[in-house]
Amino acid sequence: MPENRFGERVAARYDESCADRFDPAVVGPTVDFLAELAGGGAALELGIGTGRIALPLARRGVRVHGIDLSEAMVARLRAKPGGDELGVTIGDFATATVDGTFALAYVVFNSLMNLVTQERQAACFRKVAAHLEPGGCFVVEMMVPELQRLPAGETVIPFDVTPEHLGFDEYDLVAQGLTSHHYTIVDGAVEVASFPGRYAWPAELDLMAQLAGMTLRERWGGWKREPFTAESRDHVSVWEKPA
Ligand SMILES: C[S@@+](CC[C@H](N)C(=O)[O-])C[C@H]1O[C@@H](n2cnc3c(N)ncnc32)[C@H](O)[C@@H]1O
Repeated sequence: MPENRFGERVAARYDESCADRFDPAVVGPTVDFLAELAGGGAALELGIGTGRIALPLARRGVRVHGIDLSEAMVARLRAKPGGDELGVTIGDFATATVDGTFALAYVVFNSLMNLVTQERQAACFRKVAAHLEPGGCFVVEMMVPELQRLPAGETVIPFDVTPEHLGFDEYDLVAQGLTSHHYTIVDGAVEVASFPGRYAWPAELDLMAQLAGMTLRERWGGWKREPFTAESRDHVSVWEKPA
């Protein structure tokens, strides 16, 4: 199993530290988008975490199963109303096999980047394709690499600078690595956490999908189907398994 970066200490503060992502203005359009694609079928979330998306999606009548490496994150999900009713597999979403097939699989909030090699990201696409019903969809929400913001020779981009939190993305331009470093003031002390990841352009993900037998159906700049443009900082991509 890969190293679990979302252990007890991170899990305990996850919802609070990502409060902006729990805003109904963020969760609502995400759930609308996913519920529409599920179309009454079942959904598989890769990296279900504390249930930020899975729980409201389940409340919309979608049967959701999750995969996650972190027992600590899943314990927070289980403690929430409805959290006991979702199926969860503790495992690596690049390789884990779950019973049944799904109309929809999805991985949000850059979590595909947690797979730190191209080989593992490509394996994840193959694993998803194997879990999808014919005509089923795979949805990925991921950042567009911010290389245009990196002056020549530099490797670090600040993404959040407030009195309570400093966040820096550190790029490894040779290995396509992107490690997010967080320095957070908690009870007057500094907590430090780093999350290694691998960035990829949308086109590279298209090739992974193609190699897994899926084709691009839609690409948007956000969950409200904003156009994907040269200025988009994130993309929401939908690949389809042939019917
Ligand atoms: C940024 S959190 C996102 C959680 C949730 N999807 C959300 O949007 O709030 C990433 C989650 O993916 C899980 N994760 C990271 N790498 C994983 C892997 N290889 N296999 C399974 N889960 C993984 C982490 O444990 C964590 O719960």
